[in-house]
Amino acid sequence: MSETRQKAENDKLMQARIYEQEKWKQSNPEMRPVFHVTPPVGWMNDPNGFSLYQGEYHLFFQYHPYSTVWGPMHWGHCKTKDFIRWEQLPCALAPDRDYDGQGCFSGSAVEQDGKHILMYTSVQERELEDGTRQIRQTQSIAVGDGVNYVKAAQNPVIGAGVLPEGSSLEDFRDPRIWKEKDTFYAVIGSRSADGSGQIALFSSVDALQWQFERILDRSDNRYGSMWECPDFFRLDQKQVLIVSPQLMQAEGLEFHNGNNSIYFVGKYGEESREFLRGKAHTIDYGLDFYAPQTVETKDGRRVMIGWLQSWDNYLTPETADWSGVMTVPRELSLKGERLVQTPVRELDQYHTQEIVYQNIRLEKKDGTVAPEGVRGRVFDMTVELEDYDFGRFEIALAADERNRTSLIYDREMKTLTTDRTYSGLVHDCLCTRSMYVQPHGGKLSLRILMDKFTLEVFVNGGEQAMSTLIYTRLQADGICFSCDGSAVFSVKKFGLDPGCE
Ligand code: FRU
Repeated sequence: MSETRQKAENDKLMQARIYEQEKWKQSNPEMRPVFHVTPPVGWMNDPNGFSLYQGEYHLFFQYHPYSTVWGPMHWGHCKTKDFIRWEQLPCALAPDRDYDGQGCFSGSAVEQDGKHILMYTSVQERELEDGTRQIRQTQSIAVGDGVNYVKAAQNPVIGAGVLPEGSSLEDFRDPRIWKEKDTFYAVIGSRSADGSGQIALFSSVDALQWQFERILDRSDNRYGSMWECPDFFRLDQKQVLIVSPQLMQAEGLEFHNGNNSIYFVGKYGEESREFLRGKAHTIDYGLDFYAPQTVETKDGRRVMIGWLQSWDNYLTPETADWSGVMTVPRELSLKGERLVQTPVRELDQYHTQEIVYQNIRLEKKDGTVAPEGVRGRVFDMTVELEDYDFGRFEIALAADERNRTSLIYDREMKTLTTDRTYSGLVHDCLCTRSMYVQPHGGKLSLRILMDKFTLEVFVNGGEQAMSTLIYTRLQADGICFSCDGSAVFSVKKFGLDPGCE
């Protein structure tokens, strides 16, 4: 390789590193969430490479430092010891090779012999002789030490040519790598001859030479088109497949239009490598959730993080120097065939100012209550609502005279709705989404996490989750409860301060 060429390649990464460092210094921390990951500058989408490396949890992400909209993808990078306090690290990958010049798309990571192996999708776009443009998505490897990564000389290590006939050469992406005994495996999203999603399984002894094993699962045009960002792991003696399909159509309250993130619980034959799955379910019923990835922790928990934003609703304020936020990392477990999600237990150690109200009564005549001291934009609050005599019960958050974002429980319909219509939006975005909920023993429990602009609701101990983004001005920090009948409820609210341990 010529010296100038080598320099240009290094320069792209260097350029990104210098740029993000300068911009990071100028960025206003007041305008960022305090315990949710945001990019140092520019655009962020999917979590990538969520992995344990040398005792710390690394998280990479789809990243375009130079603007707050999607552009040629880099990999941004940060790490944590406890999933709550994150340390920014320099940009890890830039689209600087022939085979990935159009972007280093999503991927994953694994630790091997003290090295951190990244597997990502390399995107190449070029003009053919007849003037048409050709896009190719392949898989590539980069190996590093937790800060600096070197792309493998053998890249790209997998091309779509090995997939079953008719599979797309363009839509082949988001490898999820893991290791079992002496073998690496990877599941990769692909589009089959029928135009809908399929998941290809590959194996390798060295993470460089890969063999196509089989198609592990396929949409058969049932769940959207392309299946993006697969994850595949064991949980409570069962096997879970997560995929994020594009172009889905709404079905009841389970799926919404557009990009969804869904999961299947099933059985996986370690010898046969066959996956037999149950029903599809939504992972998160909020307005903003996509492309989650999981990691297994040192103590054996399965923790998931997702992109708390949607491809279809761009809410980023014009004045912001960053766009994109991750969810709080969530511990996963299974209850039957359903995923249960709870914020990582490490969050509890950052609780401050506890406020408790037991048995608050709302009667028809006054309708609304704002309990003294219950307000704020960074908190962890649990509301236990008793099944009583009302039609609708509403919790208004991030509220002032003009703004509010509401959680509305409709007792008759048994639905919980997030409504951000009055959250201060100036674009006509999708504002409401509802899900069915089921009170337990006459009680509905809502754990509500807010971190300035993020709202995450965990119902009945995490049986359902609902995540939504709002950009309401930070001065709007009121919280109030109202209903159209009589209700009895309790509130337990903590502030959160990851700045002081
Ligand atoms: C999902 C996705 C991935 C792709 C990446 C590109 O959000 O479309 O399939 O790798 O984003 O940024």
